[in-house]
Amino acid sequence: MEMSRHFVLGITFMLNIQTIVHTHLFCTNTSLLHNTTIGQMLPNHKIQSFTAPGLMICARECVYQTNCLSFNFDTESGECELTRAVAGPSLPLVSKTGYVYAVKLDWVTAIAENCKHVNCAPNHICVPSKTGNMCVVNDCGLPPVIDFGSSPEYRGTVIGYTATYNCSGIGVKAEVASLTCLDTGVWEGRYCRRVSSCEDVQDCDSSYVDGEYWIYPNAFGNDERVKVYCHGLTTDSPVDYITLPKENRILWPSQKMTDSNCNLVTSDRTDSGESVFDKIRITTSTMAINQSDYQFARLLSGINHEYGNAQDCSNEVGTCGHAVIGYAKIDTEETGLIIKRTAVWHNIGYTIGMKYFNRSSDHVIEAVCGGWCGGCYAETPLTLELDNSTVLPDGAATGVTCRFNN
Ligand SMILES: *[C@@H]1O[C@H](CO)[C@@H](O)[C@H](O)[C@H]1NC(C)=O
Ligand SMILES: *[C@@H]1O[C@H](CO)[C@@H](O)[C@H](O)[C@H]1NC(C)=O
Ligand SMILES: *[C@@H]1O[C@H](CO)[C@@H](O)[C@H](O)[C@H]1NC(C)=O
Ligand SMILES: *[C@@H]1O[C@H](CO)[C@@H](O)[C@H](O)[C@H]1NC(C)=O
Ligand SMILES: *[C@@H]1O[C@H](CO)[C@@H](O)[C@H](O)[C@H]1NC(C)=O
Ligand SMILES: *[C@@H]1O[C@H](CO)[C@@H](O)[C@H](O)[C@H]1NC(C)=O
Repeated sequence: MEMSRHFVLGITFMLNIQTIVHTHLFCTNTSLLHNTTIGQMLPNHKIQSFTAPGLMICARECVYQTNCLSFNFDTESGECELTRAVAGPSLPLVSKTGYVYAVKLDWVTAIAENCKHVNCAPNHICVPSKTGNMCVVNDCGLPPVIDFGSSPEYRGTVIGYTATYNCSGIGVKAEVASLTCLDTGVWEGRYCRRVSSCEDVQDCDSSYVDGEYWIYPNAFGNDERVKVYCHGLTTDSPVDYITLPKENRILWPSQKMTDSNCNLVTSDRTDSGESVFDKIRITTSTMAINQSDYQFARLLSGINHEYGNAQDCSNEVGTCGHAVIGYAKIDTEETGLIIKRTAVWHNIGYTIGMKYFNRSSDHVIEAVCGGWCGGCYAETPLTLELDNSTVLPDGAATGVTCRFNN
């Protein structure tokens, strides 16, 4: 056997070449060995790797795939690695015992029996068949650069292969993102995510204490910054709140109308009450308000009543009509949020009256309603949306830094 200019000394190697030529299922045209570089391989740039029964099969796979430009073949294990680059001065080969390296162009005429005359598009492979060769998608190309992701780690780029990224950055969860090459030829999967709840804040760093944080609720595509007060960060179940700098008040008065003089007298009912909500609890996946969370409701008298509802039990007497003294005030100014513009209030109860319901701005909603008992009740869930007219300063909350493996 005449060896090439790449002839490498060594009995071990000679045995390997003998193996390639004689014992593999598919014979190797020995003159093609002139076109292999022996004892070397091209690292990285991998498209795919698999075990091939022989060098010729490895070469054939490369020839069929549009993106393949060269290949490494491990004569010891039969591992065939297809690569999307060609070695050169800026892309040097590295020494590796038992390997051979070859460039696709040198092998095209010798291999591509069926697919010889087919020029498939990038990311495609030629599939030979008796009824005509076909080009089908088999490669997703290089994994994309993703927001907040490191450069990807991957062992190949064809269908079924995965690329992983380490996620990092302010407000970004420290985790591994991973994309898979789908049979549509597209990389898809889990991208890097931002901190979307107080639970995430806690996961990021268990040393964070209760306070205002910038989070990126999934309700807004995990993309819009919202200032959220995290409560219970040192407990098992932290809860998300929105701090309300302006007054938000709910008043169920204790008066009722008893006679035709239309006077209001104090009733003996125990369900009246007045509270000011300094914060409201939210669910970040929907931005729905929990109207009956009173953790940050300051009780001024009586008992707490749900956020956003105006109600009373003031009765209606003959010509006096309704007393109507239940009061609700919502004001989300300086929160960066507003109550959804489409939110509606329903009149519910017995002998209901509404004195007024005013949404004088995106931020301020005021209502005076009542009944026996009854009033104006916000649709549930009452939901917040972004207030695009308010930009809170960066310093208004803490940007979260996540620790890996904490
Ligand atoms: C491959 O072999 C052919 C014929 O021996 C030769 O002309 C060509 O230069 C070779 N290519 C490489 C890259 O060695
Ligand atoms: C071996 O390959 C060379 C170069 O591609 C070609 O000229 C020759 O016909 C091939 N021999 C056989 C037996 O296929
Ligand atoms: C992610 O980080 C770990 C630990 O530093 C490292 O071993 C791994 O290679 C990195 N992965 C990626 C995709 O950068
Ligand atoms: C609303 O808040 C109350 C009081 O904290 C709590 O018991 C309830 O589970 C919360 N509801 C939801 C849907 O979170
Ligand atoms: C309702 O809002 C309008 C517009 O701001 C205002 O003119 C009106 O006085 C308000 N009514 C009440 C009862 O607050
Ligand atoms: C604010 O802008 C977002 C898009 O950035 C939009 O989806 C949302 O509806 C806007 N909110 C309001 C109240 O206009």
